[in-house]
Amino acid sequence: MRSVVFGEAVDLYESARPGYPERLATEVLEYAPDGPVLEVGAGTGKATAVFAARGIDLTCVEPDERMATALAANCPGVRVQVGIFEDYTPDRRFALLYSAQAWHWVDPERRWDLAHAALAPSGALALFWNHYLVTDPALRARLAEVDHRHGVSSFSLHQDHPIRNEEVQHLLTGDPRFTDLDERSYTWTEWYDAARYLDLVRTISAYRILPPERREPLLAELASALGDGIEMTFVTDLTLARRTPSPS
Ligand SMILES: C[S@@+](CC[C@H](N)C(=O)[O-])C[C@H]1O[C@@H](n2cnc3c(N)ncnc32)[C@H](O)[C@@H]1O
Repeated sequence: MRSVVFGEAVDLYESARPGYPERLATEVLEYAPDGPVLEVGAGTGKATAVFAARGIDLTCVEPDERMATALAANCPGVRVQVGIFEDYTPDRRFALLYSAQAWHWVDPERRWDLAHAALAPSGALALFWNHYLVTDPALRARLAEVDHRHGVSSFSLHQDHPIRNEEVQHLLTGDPRFTDLDERSYTWTEWYDAARYLDLVRTISAYRILPPERREPLLAELASALGDGIEMTFVTDLTLARRTPSPS
């Protein structure tokens, strides 16, 4: 399963993956009622750190032991539950459940029921993903061509458009248990030197799952196309919804 490949790359993940905008955390916490917060698939804590700094009562579910160890070290004040969300039994109802770049790993047949059960009435659901785009279109096309020649096409890091995630379609097509849908986007750029950029490539599962004898020649070709570094455009797409208050 692709999700387990993350644990093997904890250090790379931590140093190379982008974080999340402060403004996103501010707006999510404004949207949510006050109360305890649950994060699903916290990884090494890239989003956790941004939220935990706001002094909230935060519980994180993370199945990978190596990720969970890094998470506990990076974010000492949060409660860490090691396991998949599907096996997690909440001991309270949460005012907010958020998931950064991880909701697609949770069983699509069960995740909406599980989110609904974990949330307090009117509790908020915030699902977000970072999309990566090489800012310069000519360089992006060159890198995409290298990917393509090495058999990496879907989920390549060098796609033309940051594609909006399909994983929220369930909410967009209407589940009466959730209401107040809102979609927001946050865009920023970041300069990556060549070494950090190649580390970023190494964290992407489409490349990571390749056997080394296929991955390394691909990385070497990307490196020679890169020069000193690369400007990345990151777009964080956020979908917000609220648990429909049940009549009481
Ligand atoms: C792409 S990483 C995102 C990590 C972190 N949220 C971030 O944004 O950097 C996906 C994370 O989801 C976790 N994960 C995979 N399957 C999961 C599941 N069924 N329940 C909860 N987390 C899961 C993985 O272990 C991994 O840490």
